[in-house]
Amino acid sequence: HLSVFNQMERTFIAIKPDGVQRGLISEIITRFERKGFKLVGLKIMVPSKGFAQQHYHGAKERPFFNGLCNFLSSGPVVAMVWEGEGVIRYGRKLIGATDPQKSEPGTIRGDLAVVVGRNIIHGSDGPETAKDEISLWFKPEELVSYTSNAEKWIY
Ligand code: TYD
Repeated sequence: HLSVFNQMERTFIAIKPDGVQRGLISEIITRFERKGFKLVGLKIMVPSKGFAQQHYHGAKERPFFNGLCNFLSSGPVVAMVWEGEGVIRYGRKLIGATDPQKSEPGTIRGDLAVVVGRNIIHGSDGPETAKDEISLWFKPEELVSYTSNAEKWIY
């Protein structure tokens, strides 16, 4: 498949402090990995409040913005970049609806979370935000480029 030879689509995925505290890191990584997506960036960090505000700048007029930024900066976050064909849109499908009460069973939020303010995971919602979020959280040299053995069977 031709796309194997091009730079594939990338998205930014973060496991929020509740997901980390609840021991869901491996569960979440497993779901992306077994789908066939490729992990190309990974770190754990406690974002500052200012960093959280930058990450969520698109929501700064929303009533939940302050609480959301306090929450994101309240503990360790696992920041990741995942790569694969359609990973931005399909990553959002794996994650499920924003409100876990409305997320389908089988999705990460549907299976593992209960309320919107503690929905355990973030995923970029489009190509522009993916690009912005990847560059906010990662330096270019922190991302790897490699061909996995499985790829010739996935594509
Ligand atoms: P949003 O970007 O709308 O959702 P998503 O994370 O699915 O892209 O909102 C960002 C986060 O803000 C969301 O994950 C949880 C929080 N939030 C609330 O706390 N209350 C709300 O009513 C909404 C819409 C979001």
